Amino acid sequence: MHSSVLTPDAPPTMADVDVIEVEGPARLTGTVPVVGAKNSALKLMAAALLAEGTSTITNVPRITDMALMGEVLRRLGADVGFGTEADGSGSVTIDVPAVLAPEADYDLVRRLRASICVLGPLLARCGQARVAHPGGDAIGSRGLDMHVSGLARMGAEITSEHGFVVAHAPAGLSGGEIWLDFPSVGATENLLMAAVLARGTTVIDNAAREPEIIDICRMLAEMGAKIDGAGSSKLVIQGVDALQPVRHATVGDRIVAGTWAFGAAMTRGDVTVTGIDPHFLEIALDKIVQAGGLVEMREDSFRVVMADRPRAVDVVTLPFPGFATDLLPMAIALATVSDGVSMITENIFDGRFMFVQEMVRLGADIKTDGHHAVVRGRPSLSSAEVRATDIRAGAGLVIAGLCTDGTTTVRHAHHIDRGYPDFVADLKSLGIEARRAEAPADPEYSFG
Ligand code: EPU
Repeated sequence: MHSSVLTPDAPPTMADVDVIEVEGPARLTGTVPVVGAKNSALKLMAAALLAEGTSTITNVPRITDMALMGEVLRRLGADVGFGTEADGSGSVTIDVPAVLAPEADYDLVRRLRASICVLGPLLARCGQARVAHPGGDAIGSRGLDMHVSGLARMGAEITSEHGFVVAHAPAGLSGGEIWLDFPSVGATENLLMAAVLARGTTVIDNAAREPEIIDICRMLAEMGAKIDGAGSSKLVIQGVDALQPVRHATVGDRIVAGTWAFGAAMTRGDVTVTGIDPHFLEIALDKIVQAGGLVEMREDSFRVVMADRPRAVDVVTLPFPGFATDLLPMAIALATVSDGVSMITENIFDGRFMFVQEMVRLGADIKTDGHHAVVRGRPSLSSAEVRATDIRAGAGLVIAGLCTDGTTTVRHAHHIDRGYPDFVADLKSLGIEARRAEAPADPEYSFG
């Protein structure tokens, strides 16, 4: 049964109430489930384009970005419906026609950068694609050069015209050897989705190894693709003539899970997170152990307990299996209340420290220099009104608000909604006094 609970006109979490307020000081305690990863589910939706017929993706998060991706696919000609499984989890069904319209316009791509991942599937299915260039965003400039040069290695002719990436492969794509300069998640996904229908063998070397890449490899294999090396830095793909639609469950969201882990650590809490393989978070959880926490890992859940004030630890972000850049705001939040000085180094995005000034408004002692931040921990923070600049920064600010002495108001909470379904409800279930509030008039408001 499908209902249209997720439509771009009325997405469930698009906030009329653009503020989250939390009361500190407070400890996170209890059990919280996580659902499927946004950064997997969005790409799995694009992967569905590779097979004519109806694919269903389950365990999807109910977030605005899913609705936006649904709209991208609808404009390409697919019929997309969001629904609820018998166990209450979200699902999306995508009915893909024999012939797709190969254009994704700027209006949607600028609102959902991840829609660039339709480039590979469109080129594979239609022999051509026109996808708007997404431009930069609040965490920095985000290039497409590896997507483009990889597809060119597979025989595509690619130009940039009037703000669009325009790709042609009239005779079809053919396999090639591709070395990525950097293990880009998006480039690996686009090239993988193009290669599964290309003629011959494609090798993607220095590929990204994130659990979300393994998830997409699994779905593609279920569709009939021939892929070796999922989860390693060398993917070998033997092209096939056609793929079949499938039903696939999205891998759990390690970043949401990691957010609760750091939240527990910095509030001296006791939190069990379910719906996630903790091995996807090994380095992050090890940091919490180094900070003095107790971590219990089970098959698809883990528990974090922090009895005393955390000790300062250094963190360096790197592609998986390194410490995830999307958890950097949580690592900084932990450092702001830890005993000692932490050095936090960001290696993936050039604008990831933009939110640091908001943390400083909460009384944090942070100095940044290039891609390093030096954080001198304080016993507690001071409640204030702050502003979310991106999804993860927003979540980090809310969690930091729990270590203050009063009401912390995080504006532009729509950013948080993009990555955290039911964030306020989850906070409440973990014992936090949290609420949505009306957004004060704000001329700077922009969605995206
Ligand atoms: N890059 C290039 N050229 C390319 C591709 C990437 O220079 O052709 C650079 C980017 O500019 C960036 C770095 O490489 O500096 C990493 O980019 P990557 O392609 O790995 O990231 P992405 O695919 O754009 C995804 C997630 C991000 C997450 C990163 C890294 C989605 C929709 N987004 O982005 O998630 O931070 O991988 O793990 O999957 C988030 O969820 O909040 C988020 C930002």
